[in-house]
Amino acid sequence: MKILVLNGPNLNMVGIRERGIYGVKTYEEIVQWMKDEAGSRGHEIEVRQSNSEGELIDWIHEAYLKAYDGIIINPGAYTHYSYAIFDALKSIAPMPVVEVHLSNIHARESFRHTSVTAPACIGQLCGFGEWGYVLAMDALEKFVRPSID
Ligand code: DQA
Repeated sequence: MKILVLNGPNLNMVGIRERGIYGVKTYEEIVQWMKDEAGSRGHEIEVRQSNSEGELIDWIHEAYLKAYDGIIINPGAYTHYSYAIFDALKSIAPMPVVEVHLSNIHARESFRHTSVTAPACIGQLCGFGEWGYVLAMDALEKFVRPSID
């Protein structure tokens, strides 16, 4: 499966920022771990991070043009207010998208309880730290290649 992983603003600071919430592993360590896991499952994976909304939107469009099988996205704070990212995800339907958050956004400040992007996804995983990305691969495996039984 060809998977595009997109990470939004400030996720490059994981391992430095709010370690009690996001953990101590660096962004680079998480990316390497995710790539190893994807490789062991036989997936082709591309992992990108941007602090810009427009760049994330361009990459979502690129996933369609380059025929990726699915997207795993952590839109960071854009989750809570970016209708532009919601529209971009809707525009590539029916490509499956899984939304991931390291932290449990529902157990945090009230502004984080709303995701405007999740309704354009097949589902959302949050609160499992970096494991969320791997659980999202499980979800894509199920949805991209549904079993017949
Ligand atoms: C986050 C949660 C968001 O609310 C926050 O703005 C982030 C990270 C997470 O992975 O838990 O930047 O998406």
